[in-house]
Amino acid sequence: MKTVSLTIDAKKIKAKAGEKILWVALDNGIYIPNLCAIREVLEPAASCRLCFVEVEGKDNPVTACTESVEEGMVVDTRGSKALRLVRTGFELLIASHPVDCAHCVSKDSCELLKIAAHLKVKLKTKRLRELQRGLPVDSSSPLFIYDPNKCVLCGRCIWVCREHLGIGDIGFAHRGFRRVVATFGDEPIARSRCSKCGECVTVCPAGALYFKDGKAPKQKTGRKA
Ligand code: FES
Repeated sequence: MKTVSLTIDAKKIKAKAGEKILWVALDNGIYIPNLCAIREVLEPAASCRLCFVEVEGKDNPVTACTESVEEGMVVDTRGSKALRLVRTGFELLIASHPVDCAHCVSKDSCELLKIAAHLKVKLKTKRLRELQRGLPVDSSSPLFIYDPNKCVLCGRCIWVCREHLGIGDIGFAHRGFRRVVATFGDEPIARSRCSKCGECVTVCPAGALYFKDGKAPKQKTGRKA
């Protein structure tokens, strides 16, 4: 296995050649906000735009989930250009996310809370107008509830259902602000081919999917390959 030497936030690191900056940083205890990245996916969607970092020699920040490490690379996860992009992206995202942490069963595993703390960004932003979606909550499954209003469109549940479990009965529907994760034909989950395994709940980073028994899901993404 070919390895490369690089520096992330002044920490000298050895990593597998070709590995993405995001996974190398996380494996070495350096947190980079991320929602849509899945380690097993070789061509990341890079849709959440929260993992921007600065790389010496590059004019603009790059997404850490798509950029591979290289020999001698110098990465700064706290550069001002990158942080500005990440903070703005995060504020846009939470402007349409209902903030009711006290009553959210996922509060102990919520990635949004973790990212907000890391970025020192308030969950209720004054800079942007709140835009709530007012979508119906689907509680038809005997196992879990799906609240699309809390969904951050990371695509983890779609991936785990399709690629990991081979079912694939959920996907993205509509465009722009109306974009949601929905079952085929937008049927209630109980009428879909859902196997009731609950894997989608364990990968949801934002409490959009949660177990009816109130058990907090144990986060499963970002696992080591
Ligand atoms: S984790 Fe890189 S764009 Fe979402």
